[in-house]
Amino acid sequence: MIGSPDVSAAAARPAVAPRTAGAEWWRSAVIYQIYPRSFADADGDGVGDLPGILARLPYLARLGVDALWLSPFYRSPQVDAGYDVSNYRDVDPLFGRLADFDTLLAAAHGQGLRIIIDLVPNHTSDEHAWFRAALASPEGSPERARYLFRDGHVEAGRGTAGEQPPNNWQSVFGGPAWSRAPGERQWHLHLFDARQPDLDWTNPEVRAEFEDVLRFWLDRGVDGFRVDVAHGLIKAAGLPDYDGPAVMIEGDVPHKEGDVSAARREGGAINRGPMWDQEGVHEVYRAWRRVLDEYPGERMMVAEAWIRPQSRLARYVRPDEMQQAFNFDYLLAHWNAAAFRDVIDNSISAMAAVGAPASWVTSNHDTVRYASRLGLVAPGRRPKGIDADGEQPDEALGLRRARAAALLTLALPGSAYLYQGEELGLPEHTTMPAEFRQDPSFRRTAGQEIGRDGCRVPLPWQADAPGFGFGPGPATWLPQPRNFAPYAVDRQEGVPGSTLELHRALLRLRRQHRLGAGELHWLRCEPDTLMFDNRGIRVLINFAPHPVASPAGAVLASSVPIEPAGSLPADSAVWLASPS
Ligand code: BGC
Repeated sequence: MIGSPDVSAAAARPAVAPRTAGAEWWRSAVIYQIYPRSFADADGDGVGDLPGILARLPYLARLGVDALWLSPFYRSPQVDAGYDVSNYRDVDPLFGRLADFDTLLAAAHGQGLRIIIDLVPNHTSDEHAWFRAALASPEGSPERARYLFRDGHVEAGRGTAGEQPPNNWQSVFGGPAWSRAPGERQWHLHLFDARQPDLDWTNPEVRAEFEDVLRFWLDRGVDGFRVDVAHGLIKAAGLPDYDGPAVMIEGDVPHKEGDVSAARREGGAINRGPMWDQEGVHEVYRAWRRVLDEYPGERMMVAEAWIRPQSRLARYVRPDEMQQAFNFDYLLAHWNAAAFRDVIDNSISAMAAVGAPASWVTSNHDTVRYASRLGLVAPGRRPKGIDADGEQPDEALGLRRARAAALLTLALPGSAYLYQGEELGLPEHTTMPAEFRQDPSFRRTAGQEIGRDGCRVPLPWQADAPGFGFGPGPATWLPQPRNFAPYAVDRQEGVPGSTLELHRALLRLRRQHRLGAGELHWLRCEPDTLMFDNRGIRVLINFAPHPVASPAGAVLASSVPIEPAGSLPADSAVWLASPS
């Protein structure tokens, strides 16, 4: 075992007063993603931290979410913003100390908020003790067998130097998926950055180590895990060449269930290359599930698995595997009624077939913020970042649609995710100068991919404070754009109709009516509009650029002021009291 187990770890799990009634809280929970480096900074170094989150817990409790998902805060050289972990059992000093985590967890539980944490099992950092030991050990040693070291490819008639990578795989961040550390003869596989070597999950030592890491955090009381790159752990035997698209995050056009050829035709890869979605991953999750089930309190796992179709994704949430999988087809749906109807129906039925809830997600730290994507000419496209030379989103239109989308997402049965700032309608930073960019994909593609920095900008808390109140001083690890001011929390708090107050109202109603545990009944599916009932609430969404007729009924919430009665404006949505 490696790392620094803390013997003072809180053995007893503090009680959570559950905000979600009934068993299996994760079935209907609204889970708020915190990207720690950009949420709130307590110590003024410009990087968010755990004490910063602690200080803002009342804000999160008041928002009305059920749980928080924290992106990585572990020890890390921060080559990929913490998704390169050098010690899975400790907090990076950037974010605080292990004791700060325990304090945060106890305080969150005290306020009825659960916490799930990010688990990064596909790869470690190159600064992890295991990788260092591997480089210090001879070829063929057990230390190397924890990773995927291979000899170089030898081309026929071209000597034996092995100067070519062992196969033709490409890194998700651009360039070859193989590198040689300085002075090394052998290559190591890295589906991401060269400094994120992939582990060999056929090695029992790797499996045992991660089960132990799970227990380390379960013992401290975490409510579950978001499993990074869940479809990537096992690679096809022999690591065969692959000529398909070199992507983890697939194309941008959702397709009908089972229509794989359409997915291909439309550019939506299905990620069945030899590095993705191999059968062997399921055995890993079954073992983890057994570990989680040893603990009281309904601990859960959610898979980050970019795969299609939904029926394939559903295999990750079979009764003895994970509880949830992120619904990325929903995140990528085009802004029209038919696309949403399809993806909603497909998701609910595919998940129901294995007894799992659907999940609804529109943004995260890897994708251009939803409010900005919805302001593009082709919303549903997944641009790999936006810079000043790219198409600039229509900010007002994007916000208008994002507010309407919130009424759709939060009315659906199942579990919903909110990415920090989404409740503010926060846009992407679309003009960040290149010199500030830190995403390894920007570097590895020589700027061809703009990267994900634009959705990771520190949050605006106070419109008139330095750094928009992100920390005690002006420092922010990425620059904030000027147009953040009207989105700041203090500009929206208590302001009727603000995007923040809209979210608070929707979350309150969702809880009161237990919409997450409800059932969807379609009433209208027209080219421009969708209408459905769920537990006493009638939801109408107008995707069109013109008004549509709206049924009568008491307005419970609306994304825009509704007048006159009987008409729903362009790109908007309403919740009415359902007559039934
Ligand atoms: C995470 C990314 C990260 C990658 C490698 C992803 O799926 O969400 O932020 O760069 O995994 O760990």
